[in-house]
Amino acid sequence: MTNLKVPMETFIHDACESIRAEAAGRPVLCALSGGVDSAVCAVLAHRAVGEKLTCLFVDTGLMRKNEGDQVTGLFRGTYALNLIRVDAEERFLARLKGVTDPERKRKIIGEEFIRVFEEEAGKLGEIGCLIQGTIYPDIMESGEDGHKAVKAHHNVGGMPLNIDFKAVIEPLRLLFKEEVRECGRKLGLPEAFVTRQPFPGPGLAVRCIGELTKPRLDILREADAIFREEIEKSGLEIQQYFAVLPGVRSVGVRGGERCYEEAVVLRAVTTRDFVTAGAARLPHELAEAVTERITGEVNGINRVLIDVTPKPPATVEWE
Ligand code: XMP
Repeated sequence: MTNLKVPMETFIHDACESIRAEAAGRPVLCALSGGVDSAVCAVLAHRAVGEKLTCLFVDTGLMRKNEGDQVTGLFRGTYALNLIRVDAEERFLARLKGVTDPERKRKIIGEEFIRVFEEEAGKLGEIGCLIQGTIYPDIMESGEDGHKAVKAHHNVGGMPLNIDFKAVIEPLRLLFKEEVRECGRKLGLPEAFVTRQPFPGPGLAVRCIGELTKPRLDILREADAIFREEIEKSGLEIQQYFAVLPGVRSVGVRGGERCYEEAVVLRAVTTRDFVTAGAARLPHELAEAVTERITGEVNGINRVLIDVTPKPPATVEWE
């Protein structure tokens, strides 16, 4: 499926022209999440308006291991973008303290994101335009363009921003995901970035069941990094894989002593569209190697489980 009627180079050229026209010399703001869509948007906007672009990256403390450094390193280093990194971990965790209900977690994260974004954008002075990485499937899901609504598409973080932008520019609004990746490649984004797995807006919050605390998020980050590293080494083609902390503790033995630690779940799915998904068949040797590394290297995990449930009835994420 495609809406593109021109080669990608022409699309990029035309998109830059129209960003320049819509921005009309005003400062442009882009919310960079680290995902493919916002990354492509930022690079496109940078090509169009250069120094006039400022990117805001909000580190919620719910990102994967080293993710914040990777994102800021790439965009500040390779692209020399004006990038503001907001370290908001403490704020997010303070607001999430004691919260275990999945919907409340999501709502708080969405609201806090908007609050941080508005505050930081306010510090920048006059901002003419907001660039958003909306892509065609988002528009289809919102029921625009003659499509039946599946879920509402929202602005950054799930709620409208209370900032008076003269224009909201959505340069990728006609592209499908594969086309966004292709556009990223043409703009020189590294392959590892272009082929990134989807990562939910609320981040690790939907993979850390129960209360979100820094120590719990840290052990999830470590286990997740090991699992992803081993899958990448194996060369298996799996569309999405990550670790989940299900909030279950169990008894074990460590160094001859009883221990009572968290369990971790390995979730790996194969899918074409993420609407339905099957559990990826992990080779047993791989599962064993991951288990050995996680239980050996991550302080606080003494048991590893594998989620083999398809979607439906489960979803890919746990919350
Ligand atoms: P589920 O869990 O609904 O996930 O089967 C399907 C795909 O969507 C991703 N996902 C999200 N992506 N914001 C996002 O941007 C979210 O709140 C969100 N929740 C789930 C999930 O990672 C999977 O790829």
